Amino acid sequence: MTMQRRIAVLAAVTALSATLVTAAPALATPGMSSPTLRKEAPIDLHIGSASWGARDLTPYDPKNPTQYQQILSTQFNSITPENDMKWDATEPAPGVFDFTGADAVVRFAEANHMAVRGHNLLWHNQNPQWVMDAYKSWTCDQAKAVLKDHITTVVGHFKGKIYQWDVANEIFHDTWDPNAYDANGQLRLRTDQNPFLYACSSDPVGLLEDAFRWAHAADPNAVLFMNDYAVEGINTKTDAYYALAQKMLADGVPLGGFGAQGHLDLDYGFDNSLQANFERFAKLGLQVAITEADVRVRVDANGQPINPADVQRQADYYGRMLQACLNVPQCTSFTVWQYTDSKSWVPGVFPGKGYATPYTADYTPKPAYYTLRNLLAEATPGRSPRVPMGS
Ligand code: G3I
Repeated sequence: MTMQRRIAVLAAVTALSATLVTAAPALATPGMSSPTLRKEAPIDLHIGSASWGARDLTPYDPKNPTQYQQILSTQFNSITPENDMKWDATEPAPGVFDFTGADAVVRFAEANHMAVRGHNLLWHNQNPQWVMDAYKSWTCDQAKAVLKDHITTVVGHFKGKIYQWDVANEIFHDTWDPNAYDANGQLRLRTDQNPFLYACSSDPVGLLEDAFRWAHAADPNAVLFMNDYAVEGINTKTDAYYALAQKMLADGVPLGGFGAQGHLDLDYGFDNSLQANFERFAKLGLQVAITEADVRVRVDANGQPINPADVQRQADYYGRMLQACLNVPQCTSFTVWQYTDSKSWVPGVFPGKGYATPYTADYTPKPAYYTLRNLLAEATPGRSPRVPMGS
């Protein structure tokens, strides 16, 4: 732990201890007596999991939770809706909003003193059919009007209930895409894949800046993030984000954070420049976060690692991601993209890969889980329960 973080944590713990004298009975929850990730986590770091409100948290009976729900609420103090706050879920028809799944996430979070990370407001995937049918005919002003209405309505609906919002998700091209670079060799924004950036391809940065302003107007307390994959280390894509962040901040845009998704694969090396990358964004005055961590492994037909040594290698990758976050005091959340293999997106998308989360499909914690928990405990001077959201 850095001295800066240790000092910040000590101050927070001191302030909290007075609160706990009266608040402690309210925090006593069945199953909270054994160590958990959220109990071990430093007071200034949210430890989260993605969860799909419409699928995983519906129905939810606090007196009779499913095993999945019980572990989610005792191990984590933050939830990111895996799909429920995306455009296709929240605005399935023009001006028609549906918060069914997203509200289920917020309800579950509130019932269990968990925070909610909003995901997401602008992305090239999971847009509703009506957007995909219409965007090629939009002027930039028309696209902005549609986006402004969406952001204002969605962020406004959850005002005060979301601590971080992924406003802009995956807005730069993959560096390996042949169309990725402009005539000057600079990495391009996804103006040919994201419908809103497409309509505003003459000034995509202007659209992005407005998106952050609209979100900020709708909920001034939410910290507003740019979020992407393959942005863990210092590389071409993160250089592009760094330059964009500098421009936005110079323009007075309420950009508040930079998120690295953390979808890693044991077939690729671990990028040790993660901490240095986080530090350079933090020096701009931004928060940083690991937003969607998982570590893919080569698996057999039963979803088990082909190479037994990969179980420990996976734990090591998780640990290095978390340690980089812990070493940077501005790293305020660490989220896994579902905590159990039974809910992971990986096997459906990467044939021959899986075993990506900290728990097996039958809810047994893996070495990766214990690595995370031990690192959290080491980073905390003494054991302290997390502060319930809003206190
Ligand atoms: O909504 C339809 C439903 O109507 C239909 O019956 C069903 C049949 O397959 O599909 C449903 O859509 C699914 C969708 O999630 C839910 O809206 C898709 O099949 C499914 O492929 C889709 O997957 C999600 C994926 O994003 C799509 O882009 C994953 O669950 C989700 O984990 C994944 O999350 C993304 C992050 O948002 C951004 N970073 C990468 C990450 C992993 O891809």
